[in-house]
Amino acid sequence: MSMLGVQRLNEPLLGRRSSIYKYRGYIYPEFIANKTHQIHFFKTREDDVWIVSHPKAGTTWMEEIVYLITSDLDFKTAGEKTLEDRIPYFEFEYPGLQHIKNMPSKRIIKSHLPMSFLPNDIKKTKPKIVYVARNPKDTVVSYYHFHKMLKVITYSGTIDDFVDSFIDGKCIYSPWWNHVLEAWKQKDNENVFFVKYEDMKKDIKSVIREVSKFLGKSLSEKEIDQIAEYTQFDKMKNNPMSNYSWWKESGFKDGQTDFLRKGIVGDWKNELQQVHVHAIDKMVNEKLAGSGLVFEDSI
Ligand code: A3P
Repeated sequence: MSMLGVQRLNEPLLGRRSSIYKYRGYIYPEFIANKTHQIHFFKTREDDVWIVSHPKAGTTWMEEIVYLITSDLDFKTAGEKTLEDRIPYFEFEYPGLQHIKNMPSKRIIKSHLPMSFLPNDIKKTKPKIVYVARNPKDTVVSYYHFHKMLKVITYSGTIDDFVDSFIDGKCIYSPWWNHVLEAWKQKDNENVFFVKYEDMKKDIKSVIREVSKFLGKSLSEKEIDQIAEYTQFDKMKNNPMSNYSWWKESGFKDGQTDFLRKGIVGDWKNELQQVHVHAIDKMVNEKLAGSGLVFEDSI
């Protein structure tokens, strides 16, 4: 039953050894494809807070911000428990849906699933959802480097191959344009807050202020300053509770720890060939046309 509508793709995509699957128009690895039923029927709660994004949009940054806002700036716990332990990755193998089901309220949950594949009852319970989006050029560059780091993915292709797959909608959680558009269409829903990475980079204090308002918290300017400082790129990169160094042995090749890699807007200029820049611009023009969703890729 859980595999209903799930299509196994036999093409060797992305230089991966393991199989990938297509479900309702999106690409997933096996560990997601084999639990679609559990995902659909997972019970959400009104007071959950979900942080949803396409991978490499700045999710981790937003997670730390949402955690601090929600916990009334509990820096002590933030300094003692990894982000992953404080905010479970919904569809991932660890800690698993059973664990998340048993978590006390108020749960903060991270997911990279598109809005249409979040649990069915979200339409009824209407938990708060913060959706983070990032321009596709920096997203794909960041995603490529992430693939090169991960042991489980065993990606061996070049950045050119990777960008081609991204444009063809064949990366995990692709197509990117559908992912962001689905959320963009819901941006005016009362329970949805849509934010761009580029706006976080431009003025993080305004974003922290808006997110806290969205979450029903009123923060003083001093508290906003404290959160902005704690979540600065260098601070998070050097913080073992937010920099994914706990994945170092089991998850990353050669003990790499560059999950927080550069943290800038426009790194694509150093990495993408002109032909790919044009191809991504074309993709954006075609796929986002008329939606009103526009990304800045240099600030
Ligand atoms: P780069 O690879 O371009 O550096 P996600 O958390 O969705 O996986 O996104 C990861 C991207 O967000 C990485 O981008 C990472 O460096 C960036 N990022 C994480 N924390 C950040 C912070 N505090 N400030 C700016 N960028 C951050």
